[in-house]
Amino acid sequence: MRIDIITVVPDLLKSPFEASIMQRSIEKGLVEVHFHNLRDYSSNNYKQVDDYQFGGGAGMVLMIEPIDKCISQLKSERNYDDVVYMTPDGETLNQGMANSISLQKNIIILCGHYKGVDQRVRDQFITKEISIGDYVLSGGELGALILCDAIIRLIPGVLGNETSALTDSFQDNLLAPPIYTRPAQYKDWDVPEILLSGHTAKIEAWREEKAFEHTNNRRPDLLDD
Ligand code: ADE
Repeated sequence: MRIDIITVVPDLLKSPFEASIMQRSIEKGLVEVHFHNLRDYSSNNYKQVDDYQFGGGAGMVLMIEPIDKCISQLKSERNYDDVVYMTPDGETLNQGMANSISLQKNIIILCGHYKGVDQRVRDQFITKEISIGDYVLSGGELGALILCDAIIRLIPGVLGNETSALTDSFQDNLLAPPIYTRPAQYKDWDVPEILLSGHTAKIEAWREEKAFEHTNNRRPDLLDD
């Protein structure tokens, strides 16, 4: 998968791709991530990419021209499955969306900044608008990182068997059951006996029951779907 991220603050984005699972996915050649600094597409001597909004009002707006130039350049080089815009009024990211985006070959992610982008960008270029939750961030960059993390770990080969994404919370609309590791006894807090029993089928049934219980307690809305 190739991900092109368009931003006015590329420095905010780089380090998460230089550690852990996202780094390994790149090293294994399963993912390519390219950063595009919007200022490099400004035709203005001051590298200006934003301006005041028509009609008045607080906050600067990212202009259409540099975004058009950047997206058009990328699209002239390859086909993209989606051009995603990170915005608090987008569709809220969930595991189902992450699953479907992880199957794509090439995507562009545009990060808003300041007040957002000129509406014509959204009308002309954007195919998917994604929010990471009902709160407003200073820009789309942190949201883009969350989206990248959520999709990259689902790409076949990125996680080994031992960390398979198939057992994650939300993957089957259930929260994950409790997990334990050594020691089996710590102070007087014991690991549930069943997990030490070696009975694979019984352990699986226990996990399913606990996942259901936990989901019912914490996120009953997931069971309605
Ligand atoms: N940009 C600002 N706030 C955001 C949010 N909640 N989700 C995605 N992008 C954003």
